[in-house]
Amino acid sequence: MARDLAIDLGTANTLVYARGEGIVLNEPSVIALNSQTKEVLAMGKEAWQMIGRTPSYIVAVRPLRHGAITDFEVTQRMIRLLLERVGVSRFNKPRVIICVPSAITAVERRAVTEAARRAGAADAQLIEQPMAAAIGANLPINEPIGNMVIDIGGGTSEAALISLGGVVALEAVRVGSFDIDHAIQGYVRRQYGIAIGERTAEEIKLTIGSAAPTPDEVRAEVRGRELMSGLPKTVVLTPAEIREATDEPVSAMVDAVLECLAQAPPELAQDLIQQGIHLVGGGGLLRGLDHRIAAEADVDVHLVQTPLECVVLGAGRCIESYEAVKAMFMDSKR
Ligand SMILES: Nc1ncnc2c1ncn2[C@@H]1O[C@H](COP(=O)(O)OP(=O)(O)OP(=O)(O)O)[C@@H](O)[C@H]1O
Ligand SMILES: [Mg+2]
Repeated sequence: MARDLAIDLGTANTLVYARGEGIVLNEPSVIALNSQTKEVLAMGKEAWQMIGRTPSYIVAVRPLRHGAITDFEVTQRMIRLLLERVGVSRFNKPRVIICVPSAITAVERRAVTEAARRAGAADAQLIEQPMAAAIGANLPINEPIGNMVIDIGGGTSEAALISLGGVVALEAVRVGSFDIDHAIQGYVRRQYGIAIGERTAEEIKLTIGSAAPTPDEVRAEVRGRELMSGLPKTVVLTPAEIREATDEPVSAMVDAVLECLAQAPPELAQDLIQQGIHLVGGGGLLRGLDHRIAAEADVDVHLVQTPLECVVLGAGRCIESYEAVKAMFMDSKR
């Protein structure tokens, strides 16, 4: 008997949950290919370590950009590798639930289900990420109460208001935490004439990035390559300058939340004053982001306990009771 699986195929990280077992895989969504032969050399953590460090014939690629499949072929191979890793074979085909952004187009929906079926799934169903996140956060989604979740991922930010098992209001933008990394890269290049890689930029975000001033601010020393001389050089960055440099993507995230609130029917908006908003996704861990959203929206914001796993845990709950929750799956044919 094949184990049914729930997959959160994110722009940054891929997680797999197996029925009856829990999370069985959690790796960066990266695969390394030989650019001449198209042979897959590595995936996940191993491929991630190759980013920016490969000889010219190896490319480390992320199959998704801004939550959408950019390369169907690569995505299909990545899903196949994932399924192999968790023990799926030709004789052992599981049903899978895949979490997708709610703003996904019909073409993208078909691409994802098709990729999963070709990669060896007996059946592939889609579930909207905010719905999975709300289930993962233990919110009472089937009650006539306004539940709001904000999912800040690597490539997308989604704010959704859920009531009676359905999405009532949604605002999704294709701006995510990777855009903060890119803003940092651009800033260091413009301001100091120094090139840094995307992994270094992410490291800067993790150590000193923030959405609002925090009491314990420290500086960070960063090494990069000076563009003029081509030599390694060190600069010292302050949280304040990084905050300013990354304000555009951060504001876009906050604005998505305000947009969603503006669409909410008044009765449900009332509920949020009591319930607050739940923040999920790795990008939600940015220092001060919860406070900034709370201040601008004038509603409490709670960062969930496991922001990076919340979506797959919610989809996992659906896998545990596949038959009962069938109604929640998105139609992939429309
Ligand atoms: N402590 C942290 N502070 C700021 N950002 C963080 C932190 N931890 C992780 N991140 C960022 O969170 C992002 C990954 O989040 P997540 O795994 O939720 O994205 P994803 O689900 O793969 O993307 P998407 O949902 O957009 O497809 C990365 O860009 C990472 O840099
Ligand atoms: Mg995600």
